[in-house]
Amino acid sequence: MVTRDDILAALRGVRDPELGGDVVELGMVKDVDVAPDGRVHIGLALTIAECPLRGQITDDVQRRVRALPGVTDVEISTSAMTADERANLMSIARRRAREHARPTQVSPTTRVAAIASGKGGVGKSSISANLAVALARQGRRVGLLDADIWGFSLPRILGTTERLHADDDTRLIIPADVHGLKLISTGLIAESEDTALMWRGLMLSKALEQFLTQVDWGELDYLVIDMPPGTGDVQMALSRMLPQAEMVVVTTPQVAAQKVAMRVADMARRSHMPVVGVIENMSWFECGHGERYALFGEGGGETLATELAVPLIGKIPIDPAVVDAGDRGRPVVLGDGPAAEALAAAAARLTELLPPAAEETCTGRIARLLEDLDRTAAG
Ligand SMILES: Nc1ncnc2c1ncn2[C@@H]1O[C@H](COP(=O)(O)OP(=O)(O)OP(=O)(O)O)[C@@H](O)[C@H]1O
Ligand SMILES: [Mg+2]
Repeated sequence: MVTRDDILAALRGVRDPELGGDVVELGMVKDVDVAPDGRVHIGLALTIAECPLRGQITDDVQRRVRALPGVTDVEISTSAMTADERANLMSIARRRAREHARPTQVSPTTRVAAIASGKGGVGKSSISANLAVALARQGRRVGLLDADIWGFSLPRILGTTERLHADDDTRLIIPADVHGLKLISTGLIAESEDTALMWRGLMLSKALEQFLTQVDWGELDYLVIDMPPGTGDVQMALSRMLPQAEMVVVTTPQVAAQKVAMRVADMARRSHMPVVGVIENMSWFECGHGERYALFGEGGGETLATELAVPLIGKIPIDPAVVDAGDRGRPVVLGDGPAAEALAAAAARLTELLPPAAEETCTGRIARLLEDLDRTAAG
């Protein structure tokens, strides 16, 4: 049976993209009611009634709360804050800004998509790289983090041998600039005996922590994370450090693979990392005559998406161009062909599900108004 505290914990993952804080600390959650049959009602107070972020915030709340075991339905009602509530919210937001309460170098407004699966070799790295490149091609500011600390493959897939270095002043690591995105991977760390030792000594979750706190990511619309196989430390560290992280589950059409993916989804629930959707990879092979062959079975992606009540973001066919592109370091989405098209479409669908933070919003205007008032008062 889901409790009020479970729901509040899940709601801490919903951020006001502009104020950076989560909706609980910002005082936007007014009521939480749980009925014995698992129906949940949440009352949200927005800064103003016509807040342009309303859809985004309520969608995020839906996704987070629905993912909790025992929740059967989520109803959200919204109201506008009173002037006092708004002043209180702004003082919390200002305090946050003053304290630079940023646990990582990743902006709280950055959308984080962790590409995960329960089984190795289903195409997480290929899909991470191609989605990231496709998003960058749409003009988004994109970071790509290789969280597969020892099994890294992104430098090869993206064709870079650049070596990471730190900025002299800030001491922050500068990501590699490749195909229009910012890449961080252990594969880009120069292998001297010292660094090798240093990295060997690090726990996986520590390495990930370094990549989130010691890298100069700058302002990003999206951070795509290539997750390692399994459901261990790295997943937990990620959800703790990046509360806005959400998971895209990659699966193959066969039923056995889908069982493993279910495990990942379960883990996503436990760590309050909601699943945005499912991508089915290696869905079919199309021969020269246009005939499609379901080499690895059929329906795994749909079944998983239905069971998780999330959308199927895309189905990527088997395309020898993916292997070839991966070997040549030029992601397939930069060219054309069946996989390139399917991957570009999946990236477009992902931006619909995770829209980038709006640039001009109500809270932004209120913040500026208050700053002006402060200045007038001070002057
Ligand atoms: N749609 C596809 N068509 C053809 N080959 C593919 C496709 N997707 C992935 N591959 C190939 O399958 C292999 C495994 O893919 P990839 O390395 O992306 O999987 P992974 O899930 O990241 O694996 P690991 O668990 O080892 O990290 C690679 O050789 C890749 O080129
Ligand atoms: Mg991989």
